[in-house]
This record gives sequence, C-alpha cells and structure tokens, in this order.
Amino acid sequence: MARKIVRPVTPLDYRRLAEKRLPRFLFDYIDGGANDEFTLRANAGDFGRFRLKQSVMRDVSDVNAEAQLSGQAVRMPLVLAPVGLAGMMARRGEVLGASAAETAGVPFTTSTVGICSMEEVRAATNAPFWFQLYMLRDRDLVLSLLERAEAAGCRTLVFTVDLAVAGMRHRDVRNGMLTKSRAGRLAKARQVLARPRWILDVAMKGKPHTFGNLSQAVSGANDLDGFKAFIDSQFDPSVTWKDIEWLRSRWKGNLLIKGVMTAEDALSAADCGADGVVVSNHGGRQLDGVASSISTLPAVLNAIDKRIEVYMDGGVRSGVDVVRAVALGARGVLIGRPWVWAMAACGERGLVDLLKVFEQEIHVAMALMGVNRIADLTPDMVDYQPGWPVSYPG
Ligand SMILES: Cc1cc2nc3c(=O)[nH]c(=O)nc-3n(C[C@H](O)[C@H](O)[C@H](O)COP(=O)(O)O)c2cc1C
Repeated sequence: MARKIVRPVTPLDYRRLAEKRLPRFLFDYIDGGANDEFTLRANAGDFGRFRLKQSVMRDVSDVNAEAQLSGQAVRMPLVLAPVGLAGMMARRGEVLGASAAETAGVPFTTSTVGICSMEEVRAATNAPFWFQLYMLRDRDLVLSLLERAEAAGCRTLVFTVDLAVAGMRHRDVRNGMLTKSRAGRLAKARQVLARPRWILDVAMKGKPHTFGNLSQAVSGANDLDGFKAFIDSQFDPSVTWKDIEWLRSRWKGNLLIKGVMTAEDALSAADCGADGVVVSNHGGRQLDGVASSISTLPAVLNAIDKRIEVYMDGGVRSGVDVVRAVALGARGVLIGRPWVWAMAACGERGLVDLLKVFEQEIHVAMALMGVNRIADLTPDMVDYQPGWPVSYPG
C-alpha cells in the first residue's frame, strides 16, 4: 500500500494527491499519453540514463542557477509549459500558475486553449508571460491572437507544430472525456460527484469555464464538449514551414518552435527565422513510439550548433533532470505535468513549494558537480549509459 504523504516533495507526490482531488477523466487527461504510452514512460525514464560527473574540492560557496531564457533574466532555466484546460484542474488555474511562476522567477506559458484569457493572466501578474499558439484555419483569428499577445506584453511566442492531428489518447475515450453521448455524460457525472471538493472549488467557484483566448471568436468552444469539435474544425493539418515564414513576418517578438524531434526539422525552424526550438513530443501525447525528448536533444544541439536557442521538455521531474538537460547544452527546459499536479493538489502554494524544490535540487547538483554558474555546466559532465536498467515509477 502507498505510504501516506505527510508533506509532498516531488512531482510524483503531488501526482498522487492530485489523483485524489480531481475527477478521474481530468486526472487522466493530464496524466495520460498517446496509445500505449511508451513515449510517455521513456520521456521520464531516459533521464536516468544520463549520468552526471561528480567533482569535489572546488569552492562552491556561491552557487546560483540564474539564466537568460529568450532574452529574459530568470532564477533558474525552467519554464512552465503550456497546458490546455489548466483552469479545470484548479480555480482559475492559469492565473495561479502564472502567479506561482512569478514568485519563483521563471516564465509561465499560457496555452491557446487555456481557460483564463491571456489578459486575465496578465492582469494578475507583473511578469511577462509566454504565449503558446497553434496554427488555426482562421488566419484572421491567428493575427488577432498575435495582436492581443503583443498588447498584453508578451515577448515570446511558443508556436506548437506537433499537432497536425490530435494524438490517440485512449484514456480520454475510456473515461468519456470527449464525448457528448449519454453514457459519456453519466460516466463523467459519476466521476465528478466523487470529488465534492473539486465541485465546490473549481466547478462552482472557478467559473467561467470557457476557452478564454477563443471564446469570443469561436462558437462551440465554450464548454468541454466543444473542445474536440474546436480541434477538429480549427486545427490546421495542412500547415508547413511556409506558414512559419508567414508567422515570422507577422510576429516581431521571439519565436520558439515547439515540437521538433529531428535535427532536420530543427534546421528548418532556424532557416525560417525562429529564435529557438523546443525538442518536444508533447509529453508523449502525440506520436507514441517516437524517441524520448532527452535522448533526442544531443542530435538537435549538434545540428543547430548554437545558431539558435534549444529547449527541451518531456519527462523533466526534478532539478537534477534540469541540470542533465542544461549540461548537455539546452538553454532551458519546460515542465508540463509537474506544475499542474502540484497546483491541482495544493493550489498556488503547492506549486511555489515544488518550484523551490526544483531550484534547491539544481543548486545542490551544481555544487556537487563543482560549478557555481549555469554557464559552467558542460557536455563533458554528462554521459549516456544506454544499458542502465532504468524504470520510471509512473
Ligand atoms: C494536460 C496537458 C495539456 C497540454 N496542452 C498543451 C497545449 O495546449 N499546447 C502545447 O503546446 N502543449 C501542450 N501540452 C504539452 C506540454 O506543453 C509539454 O510539452 C509536455 O507536458 C511536457 O511533458 P511533461 O508533462 O512530461 O513535462 C500539454 C500537456 C499536458 C500534459
């Protein structure tokens, strides 16, 4: 039997608590991946195969993890990743996430399909947010979202390219997450009734539950059932690198292309004028069977050869994982599920605490590796041990 958590520390502690707080279909929407979830497991598990070099007897009395991400000074090289529907996991979840990120001194990325609008997020914090965008069929809507983001003070656009079609997330079907059928509605109602605390905190006090960035423009995007209809009708599978050139000509701020998993695609992004790429498989939610992000990172770094910034996400579960990715050469990492689990389990306080643990873990790892600054972490301090029998307890 799982032991009682007196005080949550790691993302997996918060995950266990979030499971007790959320209706099943919402917990599984966060937790799950595509198909058989091989890539989901590999994302986290493969970090263990990158071994760090311990160096002793250095003066490490002045460690800090400060970094520059997309031109922004941050306390550690970590960003909260865009997560759709975060406002269903905690009351006004995107605002909580942005506020906790501000406290921790790291950027928050608001999703195209967030519950809170970017204006609501901006009004609640003083820090500039990053905005994630999908290419929509309605290019006028895309342009109006870009204008709104700029007006709200956003300087970094994270453009996601790995959702040409939606991945096959079997848990969502099993739980009735994306169906309007009577059986689906009944199943969801049962799952909701089992979580009275969530009903009071999120379902009742957390309204409105519309897609804040889109609700004025897109009919049918104003409830959970409208979510799939919106994806099917608006997400554009015909997008190519030509559209990125178009986007580049329309967006003057920093542009990061998220969802790149090959050296070739990373080079195409750089050729289109992107300022950076995020090596990402959407947290194992799109193509099941594609390699883990961390194992793909070295090839992308090698091809990009410092032309533009390279970030990664997928499976980052500790400050030590952040150090692994940054030592390999990543500018920074994004975390998705960990921030949502912490927020769903313990609200803004939980997320602030989790980010503190990440920062401490980074500091401790740096000190034990003999470095005081992020820039002193180098690829020779990490080696890949493919045979390591790593299993991830997820
Ligand atoms: C519940 C959920 C919703 C997500 N929604 C979005 C989204 O709206 N836009 C996007 O670009 N990525 C989205 N992602 C992917 C994350 O931005 C990120 O790539 C991924 O979560 C990283 O993996 P991790 O969860 O293992 O940290 C989502 C991920 C999750 C778990």
